[in-house]
Amino acid sequence: MLSMRLNIGIIKGDGIGPEVVTEAMKVLDKVGEVYGHEIVYTQLLMGGASIDVHGIPLTEETIQKAKQSDAVLMGSIGGDAKTSPWYQLEPEKRPEAGLLKLRKSLNLFANLRPAVLYEELEDACPLKKSITQGGFDMVILRELTGGLYFGNRSTSEVNGVLTACDELLYTEEEIRRVAKRAFEIARKRRGKVTSIDKANVLDSSRLWRKIVEEVAVEYPDIQLEHMLVDNCAMQLVKNPKQFDVILTENMFGDILSDEASMVTGSIGMLASASLNETKFGLYEPSGGSAPDIAGKNIANPIATILSAAMMLRFSFDLNQEADAIEMAVKRVLKEGYRTIDIMSDGAIEVGTQEMGSKICTYIEA
Ligand code: IPM
Ligand code: MG
Repeated sequence: MLSMRLNIGIIKGDGIGPEVVTEAMKVLDKVGEVYGHEIVYTQLLMGGASIDVHGIPLTEETIQKAKQSDAVLMGSIGGDAKTSPWYQLEPEKRPEAGLLKLRKSLNLFANLRPAVLYEELEDACPLKKSITQGGFDMVILRELTGGLYFGNRSTSEVNGVLTACDELLYTEEEIRRVAKRAFEIARKRRGKVTSIDKANVLDSSRLWRKIVEEVAVEYPDIQLEHMLVDNCAMQLVKNPKQFDVILTENMFGDILSDEASMVTGSIGMLASASLNETKFGLYEPSGGSAPDIAGKNIANPIATILSAAMMLRFSFDLNQEADAIEMAVKRVLKEGYRTIDIMSDGAIEVGTQEMGSKICTYIEA
């Protein structure tokens, strides 16, 4: 067995972030022990935790240290917008601005969010059995460094009327590189890409569709389908089985990935990887920082643990180790252990730490 040294940046984040990241680190340590890898963590500050120390959500130091790591594992960031002092700051100094700047600084244009319905969690799924029978397994590939999130924005008074503007801009290069990634991923899965846009209204979507079609020519083995975003929102609950790889721009991806997570039963199950052209990646649960349940040892750590598995797979090519984590998660679910968000009749309720420990016990070589 080849032993590796993994240099991992850790952003514990805000709210439930520190609790769930601690469990993911526990699982990684167990993997290191069982498979003989040395894991070195560097703690990095970002989001609210960084504001508390430095007054800003992301420092140059964090960006540099993240760049020096092989990969970064992160919990969620942000607080309660109504009560947290972080939201008294100007928008560009709030926690979320740090996350967006980090994604942009590291050029993490490809955000992968797999949504899988685990057989064991069918009871937590809000859809009818007739729709979910046999499960579903899709991955959303969300463009992450363009579009509305990064266009110019302004709020000003025009002729005495308050007016706000957000620009949605995409270049053909930005569309091409993420589209290519979608086809590559589909090749390793079931060979289908559904590209989501609003081409019946938006210019940016018409360009999106044109470029995706150009890229598709290089992948004749992959089936390409276009779908309007409103229809996609509907199809996700009507017939989620039809999807393999969903390719979409930043804002649509933000919305559709929350919806996709909910049809799997809980946002607490959804991992994500944000990748650039290199092996580097930022891995984070798709859900938020859930400040209302922070510190109570009830948050579901599985999304973060599965994000750590994605990290081993994509940034370190440690497929066996990643499989071991995913299998351990399945086994714990099969045995009936549940955090409260995925609880169902007859299951055994456990807290955040117990869930992490249970998963650790099933990590085997
Ligand atoms: C996500 C989150 C972020 C986003 C927020 C926290 C800025 O909702 O990762 O989906 O909108 O991208
Ligand atoms: Mg979101």
